[in-house]
Amino acid sequence: MDAPIYEVFGPLPQGAPGNDASTLRALDAVPDCDAVRRVLDLGAGRGRTTFALAQALPDAHVTAVDIHGPFVMRIAERAREAGVANRVHAMCGDMETLDVAEGSMDLIWAEGSIYILGMERAFALWRPWLRPGGCIAFSDFVRWTGDLSKDVREFWAVEYPDMASEAAIRCRAERAGYRTVSGFRMSREAHDAYYVPLEARAAALAGCTRAGVSNVLETVRKEIDIVRRFPDEAGYAFFVLQRTDG
Ligand SMILES: C[S@@+](CC[C@H](N)C(=O)[O-])C[C@H]1O[C@@H](n2cnc3c(N)ncnc32)[C@H](O)[C@@H]1O
Repeated sequence: MDAPIYEVFGPLPQGAPGNDASTLRALDAVPDCDAVRRVLDLGAGRGRTTFALAQALPDAHVTAVDIHGPFVMRIAERAREAGVANRVHAMCGDMETLDVAEGSMDLIWAEGSIYILGMERAFALWRPWLRPGGCIAFSDFVRWTGDLSKDVREFWAVEYPDMASEAAIRCRAERAGYRTVSGFRMSREAHDAYYVPLEARAAALAGCTRAGVSNVLETVRKEIDIVRRFPDEAGYAFFVLQRTDG
């Protein structure tokens, strides 16, 4: 992400739709969730998920990775304040080039960040990092219908041409060596947790002429409009996949 993106999104409490209820619902679907000890939270942003996971899994070590240094510093600071710095680690890194030992993770978390690699690449890259039977949990924009309205089709053809249907995601997962343990659409509240502060941020920056920022704001406004007008055509969904072996 470049500087104008961080200027718009940096102060927001989270970088994607989702709330602790959806995070915990997905975590609950992870088989043997109580046995999870090693978690990698990729594209952790300001750490909403990092701390939700650390609280729900008191025996687990959670490593939060983000490419944006100020987010990573804030997570490390918050871990110290919360007294969990012994098991919540913040790391500045690029998920494309991360060095993770084979079989070392019980769970890989990627809320709102799998699109950075693209789903198929992420599935292939992350599978060897998981122990056999380990899981990945991610959220992403999903098409609910094959018959998108013109405005929706035109907006997402530019902004996210690789957006898939739920069925296509399950097929991709199976081909890549995973079984789908859970898949659910996020609630209106989980969408609002992201879009309501984002809308306020866009309003606060209205009239900003700094290079790049006005383009980002225009896209943000269009996205909010599309999501609000066509809530049944596309939206955020969560998937939990388990690595299959043999
Ligand atoms: C859409 S936000 C999601 C943030 C967070 N997971 C959440 O749900 O609030 C995507 C995050 O991925 C980070 N990011 C972008 N490219 C990255 C990369 N190549 N490696 C690691 N993090 C990256 C961004 O800095 C941003 O914090």
